Amino acid sequence: MSTLKAVRGTRDLLPPETELWNRVEETARRVFARYHFGEIRTPIFEDTSLFARGVGEETDIVSKEMYTWEDRARAQSEKAQSLTLRPENTAGVVRAYIEHKLGDKGLLQKLFYIGPQFRRERPQKGRYRQFWQIGAEVIGPPSSGSESPLRDAEVLEMLASFLNELGIRDWKLTLNSVGSASDRPRYIEALREALKENAPGMCVDCQRRAETNPLRVLDCKVPEDQPIIETLPKIAEYLDDDSKARFAAVCAALDACAVSYEVNPRLVRGLDYYTRTTFEFSHGELGAQNALVGGGRYDGLSEAIGGSKAPGIGFAIGEDRLILTLQAQAEAVAEGSADAYVAPLGEAMNAAALELARYLRQAGLRIELGDGGFRLKKSFEMGNKLARKIVLFGEDEQKSGILTVKDFATGEQVKVAREELVHHLRAKGDAPPQGRL
Ligand code: HAM
Repeated sequence: MSTLKAVRGTRDLLPPETELWNRVEETARRVFARYHFGEIRTPIFEDTSLFARGVGEETDIVSKEMYTWEDRARAQSEKAQSLTLRPENTAGVVRAYIEHKLGDKGLLQKLFYIGPQFRRERPQKGRYRQFWQIGAEVIGPPSSGSESPLRDAEVLEMLASFLNELGIRDWKLTLNSVGSASDRPRYIEALREALKENAPGMCVDCQRRAETNPLRVLDCKVPEDQPIIETLPKIAEYLDDDSKARFAAVCAALDACAVSYEVNPRLVRGLDYYTRTTFEFSHGELGAQNALVGGGRYDGLSEAIGGSKAPGIGFAIGEDRLILTLQAQAEAVAEGSADAYVAPLGEAMNAAALELARYLRQAGLRIELGDGGFRLKKSFEMGNKLARKIVLFGEDEQKSGILTVKDFATGEQVKVAREELVHHLRAKGDAPPQGRL
C-alpha cells in the first residue's frame, strides 16, 4: 500500500519551526493591540456567492482558484447550497460586520484575524494551497471617519512598525490609488477602448478580460503581454480631484512619520473590491512570490454584499512568506553582518556609545558595540568582521552631533548627523533608503 502524504500544496508545520510561527503571531497580537484592534474569527467556509460578489467573478481567485462544493441538501425541498473554503478573509469579515450590525454604534471597527486561507494555485516556494494570513480590517459607517486618508496612513504605519518590530529588514512598500467608484468607469472605458486594438495580440485570458473586466488585464503575469500592458492608459490620469487629494494626504501622512514608500501607477491588485488606496509590501528574499503583504481600501464592499455604506481599509500578511523571510534573514545574520559597529573612541566614551547603540537598536538596526579600550586599528578590524559599516564615536562627535561613518565594502567615509544616522545605516550601498521606519 502506498503511504499517504499531505495533499499537494499543503504542509505540516513542525517544531521547532512552529516556535517561529508563534513568535510572529504573538508580535502581531502585541503590535495590533497598541492600535486598539480586537480579534475576529470567522468560519473557514462561506456561501460561494460571498466571494463571487465580494472579490469578483472575473478575478483569478474566484474564476480559477476556489475550493467549492455543493453541500448536501438537508431536505428534498431544499436546494443544495454552494460552499467555498475561504480564499481570503476580508469578504468574511465584512459579512460578519453586516450580520452582527457592528456599525450600529457609529464607531470604527478595528478587527484582526490570523488563520488559514485556501486557493488552488500552482504550488511553488512561497505559494501554497493552504496558506496562512495575518490580516486586519478597519471598517465603519462614514460618520465614524472610516473614509479618512488618516486611516490608510495609520494602517500602513502599523504594518511598518510590525515588520520592524519582528526584525524584517529591507521590506519595500509600493502604493497606488485605483480611484473611487466614480473614477473607475471612466478609466475602464479608456482601457476597453485601448484594448480593442491590443487585446487580439494578448493571451486568451486577457482577450476574455478585455470584454468582461478590463481592469484584470493589468494583473496578467504572461511575460509576452507585459510590453502591451505598459502602453495601456494609467489609472492616475483618470483620478478626480477628490481622489488625488486623498492619495496626496495618505502620502503626506506617511512622509510625516518617515515610512518609506514608492508609488507604482500599475498596482491595481487582483481583487475587485479595491477603491482608492492599494498597496503591497514586498521582500527581495522571496524570489518570484515576493508579495509579503497586500491590502487596500474597499469603500463599496459592504454594499456589494448587501450591507449599508461602510468604507474600510485593511491588509493581509502572507504568514508563510513572512516566516520564509525571517528564516532567510537568520541565515544572513549567521553569516555575520550587523548594520553597524559602533566604536567608542576612548574608554570615557563607553557609556555614551552604549546609549547610541541602544538608540539605533530601538530603531530596529542590528548593532555591534565595540569598546573604547580598543585601539582604532583594532576597532576597524573587529568592525570589518562583524558589520557593514563602522560608526566612530568620540568626544567631538558627541559634542557636535556629527558622526563619522565608514562603509567597509566601498571604503567611503562620510559625516552623518545623529538624526540622519538611522536613515543612513538602513540604506544599502548606493540604493536609496527603503522600507524601514
Ligand atoms: P492578497 O494579495 O490576495 O490579498 O493576499 C495577501 C497576501 O497573502 C499576499 O501578499 C501573500 O503574501 C499571501 N498569499 C496569497 N496567496 C498565497 C498563497 N497561495 N500562498 C502563500 N501566501 C499567499 C488579500 O487576500 C486581501 N484579503 C487583503 C486585504 C485585506 N485587503 C484589504 N483587506
